[in-house]
Amino acid sequence: MKVTIDGQSIDVEPGTTILQAARKIGGESVPPAMCYYSKLKGSGGKCRCCLVEVSKGSDADPRPMPKLVASCVTGCMDGMEVNSTASERVTDARKAVTEFLLINHPLDCPVCDQAGECDLQNLSFKHGKSETRFIEEKRTFEPEDIGPNIQLHMNRCILCYRCVMVADQLTDNRVHGVVDRGDHSNISTCISKAITNEFSGNMIDVCPVGALTDKTFRFKSRVWFNKPYNAHRDCKTPGCCGKTTVWMFGNEIQRVTGRKDEYHEVEDFICNECRFDHKDVKDWVIEGPRKFEKDSVINQNNYTRKLDTVVIETETGILKGREQDRKKISMRHKPLDAQEQTAFKEGNI
Ligand code: SF4
Ligand code: FES
Repeated sequence: MKVTIDGQSIDVEPGTTILQAARKIGGESVPPAMCYYSKLKGSGGKCRCCLVEVSKGSDADPRPMPKLVASCVTGCMDGMEVNSTASERVTDARKAVTEFLLINHPLDCPVCDQAGECDLQNLSFKHGKSETRFIEEKRTFEPEDIGPNIQLHMNRCILCYRCVMVADQLTDNRVHGVVDRGDHSNISTCISKAITNEFSGNMIDVCPVGALTDKTFRFKSRVWFNKPYNAHRDCKTPGCCGKTTVWMFGNEIQRVTGRKDEYHEVEDFICNECRFDHKDVKDWVIEGPRKFEKDSVINQNNYTRKLDTVVIETETGILKGREQDRKKISMRHKPLDAQEQTAFKEGNI
């Protein structure tokens, strides 16, 4: 089947969704996804971030779809034409969805461990507004202790259901879920019972925001101060791949996570023993630095590629400022040198 997204065509298998086809093409046309997770069956269709415009349904029925559709749960048809970034309607809808997700989300990024690798931060950076129109009280929940390893901040949850699916699909017995309806929806208090399961830590990796964070890493560092390395160990837990990313500060392993791809999805799930119990470098075979393809603040200290040198071309002395301004601000104690005085007299600074 042939499908065209933002003018780029690709052949896909029947059953492929528009989002999956867009990911095959890659680049700017890939819609953002806050709830879809390719490794979790049945995920998607909750957040509406991935809306796209179908301008041609298929070769057999070329009528456009009247409403925007969620690309993660809409299948491709032969001859389908889709607009993602190419559509103003889509851009407006993504802005509206972002604003909606932020209505109840607290602005506590400065103290949130997810800052720097938060999908909602990235979404807001691209599609958010700088001001809020929301004047009502934000929805809040009582803090709840769910055990020694995972910190739950229900106020930050965007109800994507990914953690519920981890519990459903990776653990023997799901004992938590989303309870209540509408504004009162929340992750059930029974989550504390799921936490003992050997694969429960994966909820931290799949949570797109800082609602579920790693207690063993809490407030230790900002993620952009850590250097991520691929590492593995001979893990005996059935179902665990033993392949992880270890986040180092100097020689100290501060955090262990699954290896995430460019869509922030783990390549394979890991067990709690690898995640929480092995923070000694001797426990791991370190393979080398982990590359981050997605734009992220973690890339700010990327040490796997050479950075360009920035050259600022400007008039001589302009960065030193005008004499009258220098007198007013802290530079007033630093007099101009002879060359600068000449330039000043000639009106060049
Ligand atoms: S706690 Fe995180 S993973 Fe679970 S529903 Fe909320 S946002 Fe999604
Ligand atoms: S990613 Fe498609 S609805 Fe959430």
